[in-house]
Amino acid sequence: MRLAVNIDHIATLRNARNEGDPDPVEAALLAERSGASGIVCHLREDRRHIRDNDLERVRASIRTKLDLEMAMTPEMQAIAIRTRPELVTLVPEKREELTTEGGFAIKTFFEPLVEFIKPIRDNGILVSMFVEPEEEAITLSREAGADIVELHTGPYSLCKTEAEHERELERIRKAARFARSAGLAVVAGHGLNVRNIAPFREITEIEEVSIGHAIIARAAFIGLPAAIGEILDLIRR
Ligand code: PXP
Repeated sequence: MRLAVNIDHIATLRNARNEGDPDPVEAALLAERSGASGIVCHLREDRRHIRDNDLERVRASIRTKLDLEMAMTPEMQAIAIRTRPELVTLVPEKREELTTEGGFAIKTFFEPLVEFIKPIRDNGILVSMFVEPEEEAITLSREAGADIVELHTGPYSLCKTEAEHERELERIRKAARFARSAGLAVVAGHGLNVRNIAPFREITEIEEVSIGHAIIARAAFIGLPAAIGEILDLIRR
């Protein structure tokens, strides 16, 4: 199973000072050197983390693959075609949400989705749909022309009890099997972390997981001793 790393929250941290550090491009290159199979950025309508210039620089710098997460808007369609990521992942987007909430409402937006996907695929960009682990959403993704489904693991990540976890995992397992047999590539993401990722090893249909917040958050702690040590070395010299 591969790991795609989402670097949005490096940009969140950079934007806290609105200067150059930490640079999302440096994070992307470091993620690649550390074994990531791809780099994910979500260019949101309000540009709250990744900005247009970040996206351009990431595109020009990385060597693995770029997954541009985006909403189904004409602006994003034009940016995708201009930027040429290896794939786009279509997500629902609400201005007021803190992070993506829920899978793409594919039944509601099926007709415009078909129109939206076509020029993207015609430009050689794969399309992934971020959907709930449900058969209907998967079937509609395939019918709309998608290549990949990303199963939404947010609800799984929020489960409290063992029984809840098992129920949600079973939903994901079944959806992964169904999507694979429908000819789609299957990935998964949202809310995955060191405490809840292990069972995914056994779901062989899932080729890749996409993780952002937990990796960046944990890096702050695992990397903190080295960052403090560097300064101490310099001031004690
Ligand atoms: N996949 C999709 C489609 C997302 O929108 C996000 C959040 O940006 C992720 C994966 C990563 O989620 P997290 O940051 O919780 O790891």
